[in-house]
Amino acid sequence: MKGVILAGGTGSRLKPLTKFLNKHLLPVGPYPMIYWPILKLRDAGIHEILIITNQHHLSSFIELLGLGEELNVKIQYKIQINEGGGIADALMSAKDFINEDKFVVILGDNIFEDSLTPYIQSFQQQDAGARVLLKEVNDPARYGVPRLDKTNNKIISIIEKPKFPPSSYCVTGIYLYDQNVFQFIEAIKPSNRNELEITDVNNIYINNNQLQYDILKGWWIDAGTHESLYKANQCVYKKIKEDTK
Ligand code: G1P
Repeated sequence: MKGVILAGGTGSRLKPLTKFLNKHLLPVGPYPMIYWPILKLRDAGIHEILIITNQHHLSSFIELLGLGEELNVKIQYKIQINEGGGIADALMSAKDFINEDKFVVILGDNIFEDSLTPYIQSFQQQDAGARVLLKEVNDPARYGVPRLDKTNNKIISIIEKPKFPPSSYCVTGIYLYDQNVFQFIEAIKPSNRNELEITDVNNIYINNNQLQYDILKGWWIDAGTHESLYKANQCVYKKIKEDTK
């Protein structure tokens, strides 16, 4: 299986830190943020990784990570041409890189505790379709929120940044997809914020009865704001301390 990390975006909620630095290069614990999704993929046995970023920051990533030798992975890079075009638009750039059926996508600012291994195993056993990972949060309105039918283990629909969240869960930025994702991206239209939304893609999987989910057990943070970046640092240092005890 291969992995894709999305590391573009403008990082507008982290200004002025992101005025000249890509968000995913900011420190989280002793490493730049981008190390964490790379390590999560590697530790789950995924060594072939594509990083999608914007033209402006590509050279910084290459300077930091090269071809991945130091982290014992193989890294390739792609540019998201339509900067600010949204997650689904960025993912479209992975089409040529993915030549097998199933792959993992991580938003580069998602920092989390769980190992990906059990989720990848469940996805391998799943016939086809996609799988998302959910987490219960205090502020669901910030995210994509699932309406759940927990008795039947089903997501009924996902609403992006709802005013009135239908549950207290969010769809995290960890997605497992089959090849159909690219054809689904081609079928969606830009949202109100003028982005191709990954939530619209996931809703197509739901309509096809092909979206399954798991709930993350450990902490999970979208480190896209000043406060959550601070929290991510706290969680990572705490974990490092616990692991070295
Ligand atoms: C994006 C997705 C949202 C998801 C979140 C997780 O939000 O659109 O569905 O819950 O990532 O990090 P954004 O970072 O674009 O606000």
